[in-house]
Amino acid sequence: MGWLLESLNSSLGKKFIMAVTGICLILFLIIHLINNLTLFLGPEVFNNVVKNLETIKPLVRVVEVILLLIFIFHIFNGIRLWIENRQARPERYAVNGSSKNADVFSRTMVQTGSVIFVFLVVHLQTFWYAFNFGSPLTDLHKYYEFVADSFKSYAYSGFYIAAMIILGVHLNHGFQSAFQTFGWNHKKYFSFIKILGAVYSIIMAVGFGSIPVYFLFFYGGN
Ligand code: HEM
Repeated sequence: MGWLLESLNSSLGKKFIMAVTGICLILFLIIHLINNLTLFLGPEVFNNVVKNLETIKPLVRVVEVILLLIFIFHIFNGIRLWIENRQARPERYAVNGSSKNADVFSRTMVQTGSVIFVFLVVHLQTFWYAFNFGSPLTDLHKYYEFVADSFKSYAYSGFYIAAMIILGVHLNHGFQSAFQTFGWNHKKYFSFIKILGAVYSIIMAVGFGSIPVYFLFFYGGN
């Protein structure tokens, strides 16, 4: 057990935790996007999807706890790695302000990650809270109407759209970085992984971002 904790505490171990938790979050986002894109199919379909999920509530709760642990590990390890990197190469920041090897995406992972964290707090406070603990609309199973009503606000939708652009930037580097940690950095496949990561990030940013845009412009903002 001691050896396991020791290896997970090493620099490589932390990178491994980042990669595994990152891949889990990448998969979660695909499922979450598919679920949310049913909003485009109208109130009946979306409200039924949410009602059906309620019939398997205990399973959803277990998944949510696992997801929370994954998020905690990902954030905690990311911060620890960032601090370690800064302590290991302080002169780099003082002299050049940047590393030659690291591009702007990799250097801003903590910053973009922090924006996503703020987004998540706001997001869960609005949607997860209302869907699980109720609101005037969700108490009547009017989940679609609750989402539409939330995105009628320019400020709220604007915040989402900005956060989704940042999410795309974070995912773009995170995706390729995870595969690099697993050793898939051979010239032959790495350019393919880079393209796959870029395509995935664009789909996530545009997919999630299209929801506030749709409700704001087709339902009228206020
Ligand atoms: C416009 C975009 C989005 C919409 C409309 C949306 C909608 C929702 C809704 C309705 C819920 C509550 C589901 C329930 O409890 O039954 C939820 C939960 C959640 N959302 Fe989102 N979401 C969006 C984007 C995101 C993004 C980008 C992330 C991650 C970066 C995210 C992470 C989560 C998490 C972790 C939960 C709690 C777990 C769950 O209930 O599935 N969401 N979202």
